[in-house]
Amino acid sequence: MARLNLLEETRYEKLPVTVCPNPAAGAVAVAKRIASLIKSKQANGEKAVLGLATGVTPIAVYTELIRLHKDEGLSFKNVITFNLDEYYPMRPDAPQSYVRFMNENLFDHIDIDRANIHIPDGTLPEDKIAGFCINYEKQIEDLGGLDLQILGIGRTGHIGFNEPGSAPNSGTRLVTLDDLTRTDAARDFGGKGAVPTKAITMGVGTIFKAREIILMAWSKKKATIIKKAVEGELSGEVPATYLQLSDNVEFILDEPAASELTRFDTPWLVKDCNWDNELKKKAVIWLSNTVNKPILKLIDEDYNTHGMAHLATEQGPVYQINIDIFNQIQHTITGWPGGKPGADDSQRPERAQPDKKRVLIFSPHPDDDVISMGGTFIRLVDQGHDVHVAYQTSGNTAVWDDDVLRYMEFAIDFNSSIGDDNSKLKGIHSDMRRFLKPSTPTRLTPRGARCKRLYPQKRGDSRRAFRRLAG
Ligand code: F6R
Repeated sequence: MARLNLLEETRYEKLPVTVCPNPAAGAVAVAKRIASLIKSKQANGEKAVLGLATGVTPIAVYTELIRLHKDEGLSFKNVITFNLDEYYPMRPDAPQSYVRFMNENLFDHIDIDRANIHIPDGTLPEDKIAGFCINYEKQIEDLGGLDLQILGIGRTGHIGFNEPGSAPNSGTRLVTLDDLTRTDAARDFGGKGAVPTKAITMGVGTIFKAREIILMAWSKKKATIIKKAVEGELSGEVPATYLQLSDNVEFILDEPAASELTRFDTPWLVKDCNWDNELKKKAVIWLSNTVNKPILKLIDEDYNTHGMAHLATEQGPVYQINIDIFNQIQHTITGWPGGKPGADDSQRPERAQPDKKRVLIFSPHPDDDVISMGGTFIRLVDQGHDVHVAYQTSGNTAVWDDDVLRYMEFAIDFNSSIGDDNSKLKGIHSDMRRFLKPSTPTRLTPRGARCKRLYPQKRGDSRRAFRRLAG
């Protein structure tokens, strides 16, 4: 059943969300909840049945549980665990195996009875998997179900390895991994090709039956999927949205992971805001995008129907707000990125002084300069500034010096064949021959720019080169 949300600020959120100042605080809070469950079960002479996850997200929780065991005597003797998933096929001793992950990050450091640990078996022959999965479900059921399930979330919206398309009542089974999930796992396997295409996972239905479910997410990387899971429509496309139907779920997030939720991203939709200039600018740009109108065409009705009536009343008329924000944006645009000699710079971003600058562009790879700021680069050269580029890596898979020289020689030959003046090109060609070592990579820069190749060997090389060029 969907939750009734009585708080205005969180009215877009379809399940309870707690936002922590940082992942460490969130992890400690979750570990505390697990510890108090274990202790209360101990007090009643009962077992605590936990559903556990792997991945980066729960590591700090496990670290805190180990600390509680070592420093505060928390015992895991009455704990029974069921892990969510395992790649298939997977040997338990492989570096990427979840068996190994759980041993290294938790089980080897606590007093849990090894017989109480359950992790899907990645070594089974395929015809034994269905039987294994049925038994996995039965073991959970025979113990009275999971007391607490902890979850991370994948960028596909998966929980466990329940990828888009998973059914809400699915049980433990063999699944095929989503392409994005395999991309995200590529680093652990030394390349995507080595990531298994399948996994054995508890189902959405298995997870859903837990008496308490805590989903954690840390970092900006998770913000988009968190918004969908918390505020989006219920959909098999984002399996985590099924959790909206649970009365026993809580999401625990750090601030970056929560940053796209309405209350943080577009707070004017859910509360009265303190309209400083930054928020005003963000809101007006958002309004322009949302109603698909240029800023100068926004009217009262647009403001009023998009949660910005308060701004219009406080700082209006909206005509004036529009002009103000428009001007602020306009004043960040210039055709004179290095400044403009003799310009009136009181209202504009161009600076009149110094009228000629020495410019040093750092380019991590010999491509990044032209790809990311090619237009600006050419402008600076054309406007007579003294422009240098420092390439910080050799770019040895980019353009080779031999190719540059070959293309120039072709152009010289071509010009000669049609009787064109070649003197300038020949000059550049001979400069380049002196400058470049054949068979080392280079690239072409805008006319007139000086290209310095810096391949930093030691820390501080780039800084020293900068001082040299900046003279
Ligand atoms: C792991 C699991 C997955 C992960 C998810 C997030 O057992 O079931 O659903 O929780 O892929 O992974 P991390 O935490 O590495 O971002």
